[in-house]
Amino acid sequence: MIPADFLTSNIVEDNSQVAVILGGNQNTQCGEKALLMAPKLRGYQCSAAVHCAIETGFRHFDTAYYYENEKEIGEALRTQIKMGNISRENIFLTTKLWNTHHDPRDVRRICEKQLELLGFSYIDLYLMHFPVGYKYVCDEILMPMSGDELQTVEIDYLDTWRAMENLVKLGMVRSIGLSNFNMEQIQRIIQCSSSKPVVNQVEIWPGFLQKDLVDYCRYNGIIVTAFSPLGQPNRKNHCPVYFFSEGMKRLVKKYKRSASQIVLRYLIDYGVVPIPKAANPIHIKENLNIFDFKLDEADTRLLRGIKPKSRIVKYEIVKDHMFYPFELLKENNEESEVKDSQTKEPKLPYFPSEEEEEKENHENYE
Ligand SMILES: NC(=O)c1ccc[n+]([C@@H]2O[C@H](COP(=O)([O-])OP(=O)(O)OC[C@H]3O[C@@H](n4cnc5c(N)ncnc54)[C@H](OP(=O)(O)O)[C@@H]3O)[C@@H](O)[C@H]2O)c1
Repeated sequence: MIPADFLTSNIVEDNSQVAVILGGNQNTQCGEKALLMAPKLRGYQCSAAVHCAIETGFRHFDTAYYYENEKEIGEALRTQIKMGNISRENIFLTTKLWNTHHDPRDVRRICEKQLELLGFSYIDLYLMHFPVGYKYVCDEILMPMSGDELQTVEIDYLDTWRAMENLVKLGMVRSIGLSNFNMEQIQRIIQCSSSKPVVNQVEIWPGFLQKDLVDYCRYNGIIVTAFSPLGQPNRKNHCPVYFFSEGMKRLVKKYKRSASQIVLRYLIDYGVVPIPKAANPIHIKENLNIFDFKLDEADTRLLRGIKPKSRIVKYEIVKDHMFYPFELLKENNEESEVKDSQTKEPKLPYFPSEEEEEKENHENYE
């Protein structure tokens, strides 16, 4: 197994060891109910992003069976190896077991298929993408729908995890971890199996910090990877609000860095491993150029003060499943409690209320 500190070690000293891209998918098979994720990065756009990322210095790549781009990513990485720009040992490749393959009897077969797609003999980190299993129909159907309903199964993620442990023994994967698991689920895995997850990859961005989960993982020596670390910024509708706010503009001016760079630096200092998705070469380059500046304490505190928002990636379509990991109602209540209590606090100078922000953005951009 790779030691748990692999992803964070050398972060400051050697930025070629860190950082990350890729993945993101929007499955349209179930229309409105599709998982809310970043747009697909496939085909030429995907290969071009990998080449640019390697040449920029990125060494950690995050993909998944679900993203349907393992083949392109593998091809681009192998081309870079052939060109002598990088060796396999210096790449950290993460991919994930999709929900339709939770049956322990299927885990080895699908991992072999993923290795074949990637064109490598091992995967550095293999994550269980989500604790809820979906019905297996065939390898190509990722969202097995019956009318409006997504067909799930009640396979215990613990049994899936034990099958993943076997992949480590077989040398197919170097380490295993989880994604979108809550504290109780991680605890159950730690207590009932022989190995600890190396990583839990969860949604984290300045409006959604998941502090309890991060603290729990840190206490247990589990690295937290932050997906959607920027909050999936969208220039057209200026969402999330914080990203396009006046407060952020002040930080951009003060540090002479982009909003994304400020956020990525902030998340690294928070102690998580952000994996921004970027197709645009300017973004790819920007996102690695974050290790030669530091946010001062006051600005870090102000970013901490951004009001909690709802998670973006909800997997709501399976919210009634016994292994659904998120407490959407509680999260939303907590959000309003925080809002209520914060109205009594003096207003932060940099990050005005959402309503004010919307008004300002309207005034500034339109
Ligand atoms: N485990 C899970 O369930 C799960 C779920 C969602 C995502 N993920 C992983 O997390 C990764 C990132 O998450 P995400 O794509 O949802 O959200 P994200 O990284 O927060 O946002 C991606 C968006 O940010 C833009 N962007 C990137 N760098 C930028 C920069 N420097 N300046 C301005 N805009 C920038 C990208 O634009 P361009 O593409 O145009 O450059 C893209 O539109 C995914 O690729 C995937 O690997 C995992």
